[in-house]
Amino acid sequence: MTEGLWITFEGGDGTGKTTQATLLETWLGEQGRTVIRTREPGGTEVGVLIRDIVLHHRGEVAPRAEALLYAADRAQHVATVVRPARERGEVVIQDRYLDSSVAYQGAGRVLDAGEVRELSLWAAEGALPDITVLLDLDPADARRRLDAADKPFDRLEAEKSEFHERVRTAFLALAAADPARFLVLDAAQPADTLAAAVRNRVAAFFASCDASS
Ligand code: TYD
Repeated sequence: MTEGLWITFEGGDGTGKTTQATLLETWLGEQGRTVIRTREPGGTEVGVLIRDIVLHHRGEVAPRAEALLYAADRAQHVATVVRPARERGEVVIQDRYLDSSVAYQGAGRVLDAGEVRELSLWAAEGALPDITVLLDLDPADARRRLDAADKPFDRLEAEKSEFHERVRTAFLALAAADPARFLVLDAAQPADTLAAAVRNRVAAFFASCDASS
């Protein structure tokens, strides 16, 4: 049986995760792989409701409540979408996962990043992706991209620039702590260059699965 793959895309807002996820989805589809394209928050029906709270609720959401909402979204998503797809040997391409919780909820400086990670791991029964691509970009460049795209701001995109600097630093620290899982790319490069780097990493993963089977 062909080996499945679970790959997540991480990085600040405006770093090009969705573009890269789409390019990878097209490439794997052309190879006849069954691909599930999904995201957090909001990869399930329950998750869509949670996404609406965490991104669009206008009043204050207490930091622990927010962390639990992302974790609840994650629990439902892993249990009902990701894990079943992996058991079927399919490819799961996902925008954001628990590294986003550690980077964003940890960057608020109220919650301990280690606790946020433990909470997510509990929610997901310890599940970690095979590959995580970190698209790293100066938040000022990312801001310019978002402004050019004229996207409506959600709650987190509207945070101050030091917050986004802390998010970036946290992502880089997560990647440095787990180099086997992470592929860190300079997201200022052209989309095609980034896509080729992602494809190389994915091809290497499949080759290593074939070698060990
Ligand atoms: P995203 O879906 O990337 O936004 P968009 O659809 O605008 O591209 O992410 C939404 C926001 O959610 C993003 O600012 C980061 C935040 N987030 C967290 O704070 N914690 C989390 O665990 C996750 C998954 C996302």
